Amino acid sequence: MNISVIGTGYVGLVVGACLAETGNDVVCADVVASKIEGLKKNILPIYEPGLEDLVERNQDDGRLSFTTDIAAAIASADVLFIAVGTPPDEDGSADLQHVLAVAREVGKHMTREMVIVTKSTVPVGTAGKVAAEVRKDAKHPFHMCSNPEFLKEGAAVDDFMKPDRVVLGVDSEFARRMMSEIYAPFVRTGNPIIFMDIASAEMTKYAANAMLATRISFMNEIANLCERVGANVDLVRKGIGSDTRIGPSFLFPGPGYGGSCFPKDVKALLKTSQDYGVPLNVLNAVEEANEHQKRRLFEKLEAALNGKLRGSHIALWGLAFKPNTDDMREAPALTLIDGLLAAGATVVAHDPAAMPECRRRLGDRIRYADTNYDALDGADALVIVTDWNEYRHPDFNRMKQALRRPVIIDGRNLYNPDRLRSLGFVYDSIGRMPLAESVAKA
Ligand SMILES: NC(=O)c1ccc[n+]([C@@H]2O[C@H](COP(=O)([O-])OP(=O)(O)OC[C@H]3O[C@@H](n4cnc5c(N)ncnc54)[C@H](O)[C@@H]3O)[C@@H](O)[C@H]2O)c1
Repeated sequence: MNISVIGTGYVGLVVGACLAETGNDVVCADVVASKIEGLKKNILPIYEPGLEDLVERNQDDGRLSFTTDIAAAIASADVLFIAVGTPPDEDGSADLQHVLAVAREVGKHMTREMVIVTKSTVPVGTAGKVAAEVRKDAKHPFHMCSNPEFLKEGAAVDDFMKPDRVVLGVDSEFARRMMSEIYAPFVRTGNPIIFMDIASAEMTKYAANAMLATRISFMNEIANLCERVGANVDLVRKGIGSDTRIGPSFLFPGPGYGGSCFPKDVKALLKTSQDYGVPLNVLNAVEEANEHQKRRLFEKLEAALNGKLRGSHIALWGLAFKPNTDDMREAPALTLIDGLLAAGATVVAHDPAAMPECRRRLGDRIRYADTNYDALDGADALVIVTDWNEYRHPDFNRMKQALRRPVIIDGRNLYNPDRLRSLGFVYDSIGRMPLAESVAKA
């Protein structure tokens, strides 16, 4: 099948490469020429495990190509995926300008009956808006499909290849048949394709992200309470996660959720609820709790250094909003860095993948270390922001020697508090023994 994907970001590139991998002829198009030039040489604009191999193999085999010629990509497509960005507008709603810009081109350049798939996360009613734009110039019949994407950055290829489920909102039998064919290779082990109407598919994506964000904010608040009452959130998490009605995923407390999806999708759903006059009280609280949580690491650090941040030198391990990605959109590390610099501290950071992205955003406002140990040299404290695997079992003696003061604020609960304290660290984490006790024991 001839498939085109418009937008080659985290989603579009994964979708294009994976659909080429199952034998389709895929054209990926983007307006950013430098991105396309790089991709033609198998240079990826993003870090995503396994993606480079997939792009290289399918490009070499001639099933995957890259272009800036959006018109040509549309002209060759039986099925067109729109995977452009939908960033938050000023009022929190999803900004549809890129999606609708693509839609206007589709009508002008289509050469055959086709299925137009909204892969971007878009509010209910967007497929209708896309169809209205296409209809203005369309000379061939077309069908709409809402196919929200549930991949996780850092495991995107795996998630696309082995989805828990595929959600397809369709408006015709033609769309249903074409989309079934495309997804058949990915659901061979019985994971379901769930067909529904388009509005329900559009809503499903927001409801899924809102639920996941809710679990995170809920656990963050429970963790904060655990600290006060002397409970250990790690044990509480296991205690509730083993209940099959609750399940163990997405119960890890931390420095607040970030990334390109949860913050903006929560905002967009709240805007929809306002537009329709239907309150989403729980979700309002989820967002508020997250804003608070993103300041927790700063507060903990300030407490550990007795309020003396001015003139201090702070090491950060982890910049990306989660491990295995270089994505720093809405990353808690950015909130922390802003706070530290405003308080008069200097910052040195290490991240296995996100340092180029951080440099692009912050330039030389902070320093970057070649290794995680280098970051510790002369630092007054270490703050762990992202739970990269390589931070899980470090050489604590080496850390203690490098740090000017043995202070660790662990935003991901990577270490055993008793062990750290017995090694002489002042150690604070999320939802476990409060700092005062740690200082007393150290
Ligand atoms: N990143 C994720 O984990 C994830 C997961 C599920 C869904 N989504 C959704 O998928 C969509 C894309 O997200 P992303 O993270 O891939 O975004 P991204 O910003 O990484 O990529 C978007 C791409 O679209 C391109 N683009 C913008 N306007 C264009 C146009 N008119 N023609 C061609 N290309 C254009 C941009 O240059 C960019 O390369 C968003 O709606 C997002 O909410 C993202």
